[in-house]
Amino acid sequence: MVGRFIVADGIEGAGKTTQLAFMHEYLEQAGYSVVVTREPGGTTLGEEIRALLLGHRHDGMALTTETLLMFAARAEHLERVIRPALGRGDWVLCDRFTDATYAYQGGGRGLALEQIADLETWVQGHLRPDLTLLFDLSVEVGLARAGKRSAADRFEQEDQAFFERVRATYWERALQNPNRYRIVNANQPIEAVRREVESILAAITL
Ligand SMILES: Nc1ncnc2c1ncn2[C@@H]1O[C@H](COP(=O)(O)OP(=O)(O)O)[C@@H](O)[C@H]1O
Ligand SMILES: [Mg+2]
Repeated sequence: MVGRFIVADGIEGAGKTTQLAFMHEYLEQAGYSVVVTREPGGTTLGEEIRALLLGHRHDGMALTTETLLMFAARAEHLERVIRPALGRGDWVLCDRFTDATYAYQGGGRGLALEQIADLETWVQGHLRPDLTLLFDLSVEVGLARAGKRSAADRFEQEDQAFFERVRATYWERALQNPNRYRIVNANQPIEAVRREVESILAAITL
């Protein structure tokens, strides 16, 4: 059996982590072997890089540094977790992936998308997710949900305009690659989002 690489992406508070847990359960019940992981992170080194990226010890780090750290964590993740899992035929469910770099470092912070595309090619070669679920909802609702969860990390502390650019960039990416994306209306109760997600999974696990 061939594994699939499925990503949940979208702004803070969209419900990615919540729905990934349901997706995991759904796919395991369907008999698949599933690896659930996240970015930045997913490896010992990657989680240390995550702490550097999200924590406040390095507030104001250069945008180039931030972007290269994202891809450094991703290189490790691909080498040690994602490619081996897909090679075994497992399904990989990943909480955020390279679209988040386009959205946050590109759309949000203003790095040229072509530069991100160059790094994507260098680090990933031809590997792209088979399917990306974009959990979409208004910035107000997303930030309100995320705010209740924990203290703001280095991204969550950005202003509303930043997240509007992030959201718009996710939309652009989704519209440019309609075969790879499904846009999920994340501004519904958890169970309604779950049903929408499960109908998408049902269509690819037939
Ligand atoms: N559809 C939903 N409606 C209301 N609250 C939700 C919904 N989905 C998730 N939440 C809650 O919002 C917060 C953020 O959800 P989470 O899954 O962590 O989002 P993300 O991983 O996208 O940042 C959590 O407290 C979660 O329980
Ligand atoms: Mg999350």
